[in-house]
Amino acid sequence: MNEFSQFRQEYSGQPIDIQQMTADPFTQFRVWLDEAFAVNIKEPNAMTLATADEHGRPSCRVVLLKEFNNNGFTFFTNYSSRKGREISINPHVSLLFFWFQQQRQIRIDGTAEKTREDESDRYFQSRPIRSQIAAIVSSQSSVIASREILDSAFEAQLDRCNSSEIKRPQHWGGYRVIPETFEFWQGQADRLHDRIRYRLDNEVWVKERLSP
Ligand SMILES: Cc1cc2nc3c(=O)[nH]c(=O)nc-3n(C[C@H](O)[C@H](O)[C@H](O)COP(=O)(O)O)c2cc1C
Repeated sequence: MNEFSQFRQEYSGQPIDIQQMTADPFTQFRVWLDEAFAVNIKEPNAMTLATADEHGRPSCRVVLLKEFNNNGFTFFTNYSSRKGREISINPHVSLLFFWFQQQRQIRIDGTAEKTREDESDRYFQSRPIRSQIAAIVSSQSSVIASREILDSAFEAQLDRCNSSEIKRPQHWGGYRVIPETFEFWQGQADRLHDRIRYRLDNEVWVKERLSP
């Protein structure tokens, strides 16, 4: 017996009627996000972000969605990190939300661009001071010799901070992902899942059903 066969799940979501899906995918995302909140999914705003380097070699990691509206999906990070370097070379990215309890996933493909400085400043100032300091001292994705080096840099920076506002470091800020396609996936019985894709056609969102 395969070691994973004992974990096999049967899916049985509410069937999706494509006509019931909203005309624009941002509204539909809001409907599903609210439903995820309603069933108390922990951090439903955690999303996998896939990027690719100049050779098309992909990498992915989880980041937190901090804002979304019809202009896009915003997260914050270190611009010099691996993801930041890859986005600067190749802005095409993919986002994935997976909400196991609801047997749902949402994929959003699009392009990432930096948020405006004032938007990044505003979000940076809303973070706890210790998180602000972590953003200053972490050279995200670079090799460090030890945990102790990181901790002492953090403590030293903490000592230097007085009660005045901490300035956002230039290497840290937001990206907004501007979607080109959305795919809403709902698990169904017998692996005959529902998949509804939205794609832009002459600035109009077209809804289509995909084979599972
Ligand atoms: C639940 C969760 C939330 C995370 N949120 C963020 C985030 O919002 N921003 C961020 O830079 N990293 C976040 N991380 C860490 C990233 O997954 C990743 O380790 C880090 O950004 C470095 O990625 P990179 O080397 O691919 O650039 C999160 C990790 C987890 C597991």
